[in-house]
Formats: sequence, C-alpha cells, structure tokens
Amino acid sequence: MDKLATKYMGLELKNPIIVGSCDLSNSVEKIKRIEKAGAAAVVLKSIFEEQIMSEAKSLRSHSKHTEEYDYINNYIRAHNLDDYIHIIENAKAEVDIPIIASINCSTPSEWVNYIKKIQKHGADAIELNVFIIPGDINKDGRQMENIYFNIVRKVKKVANIPVSIKLSSYFSGLANFVDKLSILRLDGIVLFNRFYNPDIDIHKMEFTSTTTYSTSRELSQPLRWIGILSDKIETDLVASTGVHTGEDAVKCLLAGAKAVEVVSVLYKKKVEEIENILNDISLWLDQSRFDDITQVIGKMSKPQIQDPSVYERAQFIKYFHKR
Ligand SMILES: Cc1cc2nc3c(=O)[nH]c(=O)nc-3n(C[C@H](O)[C@H](O)[C@H](O)COP(=O)(O)O)c2cc1C
Repeated sequence: MDKLATKYMGLELKNPIIVGSCDLSNSVEKIKRIEKAGAAAVVLKSIFEEQIMSEAKSLRSHSKHTEEYDYINNYIRAHNLDDYIHIIENAKAEVDIPIIASINCSTPSEWVNYIKKIQKHGADAIELNVFIIPGDINKDGRQMENIYFNIVRKVKKVANIPVSIKLSSYFSGLANFVDKLSILRLDGIVLFNRFYNPDIDIHKMEFTSTTTYSTSRELSQPLRWIGILSDKIETDLVASTGVHTGEDAVKCLLAGAKAVEVVSVLYKKKVEEIENILNDISLWLDQSRFDDITQVIGKMSKPQIQDPSVYERAQFIKYFHKR
C-alpha cells in the first residue's frame, strides 16, 4: 500500500489531496491537469440550482407563450445537465481518479432527480453544497436544520453512490447537528464551505466582496471541529478552507480528517502546487517515523490528547496570562 493512501466514503484515494469544487474542475482538460499534478480525487464545479433557475427566468422574460416557456425551461435544464453529464462521462474515460459531482441546492425538490442521471453516467460520489442563509426571523434553528435533514433523506433515497455534504459553520448546535446528519447515513461531511461575503465601499457607496481566496490562518476552524467530532461520529470528515500546505494537510489528518480539499492555494499558485503539498506530507511522515498516513489520522483528535480542552478553548485566557 502506498504510504499516502487513505479511504474516504469508501473511495480508495492514493493520497489525501482532493481538489474541491471550483472553476478549476469545470472541464475534462482541467481535470486531466489536476490528475497529472497528483490529486487523488476531484470535486466538479457545482451545478447550481439558482443558476438553472435564473437562466430559465431570463429566457422566460423573452418568451410570451407558455408553451415556448415550457420548452425553453426544459431545454435549459436538460442542457445544463447534459453539459455536466458530458464532463463526467469524458472525465471517467480519461482519468483514473474518482470524480465527485457537486450540487449546490437549498430545497429537497426536483433537482434530486438529477442524481439518477449523474450516477448513471459514472460519477463516483456526490457532494451536496447546501447553504441557506439563516436570515428569516420567522424560522428557528430547528426549522433550518430540518431543511438539511429533508434534503439528505431525499437524496439518500435516490443515490446509490456515496453522498457527502459540505457545510457552513453557521449552526447553533453544530456538534449535535453533524451527529444527526451522520445518523442519516451520510457517507462524508466536509467542514467547512467558504462563502462569498459582502463588504461595502463607503466612498463609492457600493457593495464589494471580501477576499475570494482563503489563507492558512483560516484553518483553525475546520481543525477545531474535526478534532472535536472525528471520534464521535461514524461519517468520514474532510477538511476544507485554509489548507494551503503539506503542513496544513497533516494538521487536519492529525485532528481526524480522512482527506482534505484544496482550492484557494491552487488559484494563488497553480494546480501543480499539489506536488509540493504531497512531497511535504511524505517528508513529514518520514521525519516523524510514521509508516503511512492511516497511522496519523485522528492521532490528535479530542479523545486522543492529554488536554482535550484545547479544542474547546475559545477565550484568550492563556494568551493573556503569558504576557
Ligand atoms: C473561484 C471559486 C469557485 C468556487 N466554486 C464552488 C462551487 O461551485 N461549489 C462549491 O461547493 N464550492 C465552491 N467554492 C468553494 C470551494 O470549494 C472551497 O470550499 C472554499 O474555497 C474553501 O476552500 P479553500 O480554502 O481551499 O479555498 C469555490 C471557491 C472558489 C475560490
């Protein structure tokens, strides 16, 4: 067995580096480059529920007849899906690494049927990107969580390939919520998604956005929650947000992640940076005298360490004491 090999959602990965969903994975040529750079799996660019709907809407405004509207609407849905299916089919023919389809969704509705087609054409797994801003003052936390549970239940009924969900950290009872998702027999949970965040330019009185790409400084959040949860739940956890180096990846594995997803680092540097990340993980394994990364995964999760409170310490008491 290769010393970097790991298993995520039942998929055999030759190493723990998965390229996360983004525009770097939206064509077969790009996926081939990702494989060549050494990644063990790739999550395709998401099919967005909103994207399909808004395209349908914009065309609808040019169309007067209901019949025509129906036709266009159906065409757009089919076309989007056909393009996506095309990428899955061709990628499966051209590369050996697992192809994980990604669906960005917020309702347990008709999109679920897309899964049948996606899996029929060879996707190895599906990652759900569910994010609903909890901004409705009439909906409490339980109601928000139920939307996620309903989506997962519906998807699990249709899917016969592994299913993961990529979450935000915006849940009041995150550990309990993740545990409940795990009980629904999800195969993987990706912690965490990173969003487009609004900002305001006060001089131009315009909306702008905060930085598109993460830095390693953002790693502490996935690290904390993977450390707290990895030993408590059955579902495999994967780290996302802030993994930029081999060292970052090793930290996530020590906390209990089965693998890591990388995106920003590949935009900031280039896709071939994966080779450096893998070399650094290998080097660290050798220097630390581990035979393979299965010995590393979870070695510093919450129950494995002498002072488990490090994962839950949220105040700066220790920091101020030292000064
Ligand atoms: C340009 C860009 C496009 C992205 N597109 C998607 C997407 O289509 N679906 C998705 O689930 N996440 C998408 N993401 C989020 C990433 O998959 C990832 O969760 C996030 O960037 C955090 O990982 P990182 O710190 O390695 O960048 C995108 C991120 C970037 C920077």
